[in-house]
Amino acid sequence: MDFQLTEEQLAVQAAAREFAQNELWAGVIERDEHQKFPAEQIKKMGELGFMGMMVSPEYGGGGMDTVSYVLAMEEISKVDASCSVIMSVNNSLVCWGLEKYGTEAQKQKYLPGLTSGEIIGAFALSEPEAGSDATMQRTTAEDKGDHYLLNGTKNWITNGTTASVYLVIAQTNAEAKHRGINVLIVDKGMEGFVTGPKENKLGIRGSDTCSLMFTDVKVPKENRIGDDGFGFKFAMKVLSGGRIGIAAQALGIASGAYELSLKYAQERQAFGVPISQHQAIQFKLADMATNIDAARLLCLQAAHDKDAHQDYTKSGAMAKLFASKVAMDTAVEAVQVHGGYGFVKEYHVERLMRDAKITQIYEGTSEIQKIVISREILK
Ligand code: CAA
Repeated sequence: MDFQLTEEQLAVQAAAREFAQNELWAGVIERDEHQKFPAEQIKKMGELGFMGMMVSPEYGGGGMDTVSYVLAMEEISKVDASCSVIMSVNNSLVCWGLEKYGTEAQKQKYLPGLTSGEIIGAFALSEPEAGSDATMQRTTAEDKGDHYLLNGTKNWITNGTTASVYLVIAQTNAEAKHRGINVLIVDKGMEGFVTGPKENKLGIRGSDTCSLMFTDVKVPKENRIGDDGFGFKFAMKVLSGGRIGIAAQALGIASGAYELSLKYAQERQAFGVPISQHQAIQFKLADMATNIDAARLLCLQAAHDKDAHQDYTKSGAMAKLFASKVAMDTAVEAVQVHGGYGFVKEYHVERLMRDAKITQIYEGTSEIQKIVISREILK
């Protein structure tokens, strides 16, 4: 692995940092408070190429590598983790899945809009009774010859109300278990498809999360991705890459909390000196900086594995497991460094602490990452 970033990667990092500081910072507290979807910001992110970074230019994407994606995710997550989860689902789960496994017609139809930010995508796997145990799909896609009849409910869907295109995982042949699962492209507006109300969440409150309900939705056969029964493998493969994006999100939340703490510690006086001169604070800053560097190395290693066409199941899960813990630990310590100020919204670290928690839950809980890692080690 080359530790030196290329000029192109550095340019992407600088562009993402500039965008986050100039366009996301100012309204982030208000969007969090009022659960306001960052529609304008996402549109701009599309124009700047952040919504389809790794997609080939042929379909309107940036043709960039995963390392660049990780760098951009970190910078955007430092400021607004709601924007970065919208970006991550669109890039890693929807665009990547469509480009890698979709038909030419599917790619032509959906990717230009998704990469430009004109439309947003969602990935629908979780159900009321199937979160971690993804094989237990209750949503059914009954084969009716030229179409599937889709029935069921999906839960916790990121971009749920704002997406225009949904990749929905559903069971077609229960006897075949995970090999009887399909992935279907469902368009907003298809008859029988409705979305539930927005969830009122602890963190990433700018992003919208809701349930999806399907009642006798007729999905044309040409909307299936891959061969019959490929849906579970599809979900596992996109989630392996998605975990790199969420690891980078967690890294960004940690770095954002650390940078704010470092600045605050050098400005805030106590006992006649800046608090950064007290060893109790210095030790916290040292731990934060060390953990963040280690998390960044794991994220870059996973991204490097993916770019080098090596298996990234284990490295992606390790990056997510570790970076999400670092995000949580760093954000809690950041509030502590800020004292009472850390407990109020204007100082941003309480939001970062709330945002950090979800990185240990979605795209597989920390416990699921340990299952994935141990199975890779033992196989
Ligand atoms: N890549 C490719 N194939 C994989 C794979 C991977 N990473 N993991 C499993 N598979 C394949 C296996 O090889 C196997 O294939 P065969 O039938 O050919 O042998 C098949 O899938 C079934 O595998 P397992 O028997 O190992 O599956 P399992 O039931 O034991 O479950 C699991 C494995 C890792 C626990 C999986 O269920 C899992 O990842 N669960 C968590 C799901 C998750 O992340 N949910 C979050 C929802 S999405 C989200 O949060 C998005 C968002 O909005 C932000």
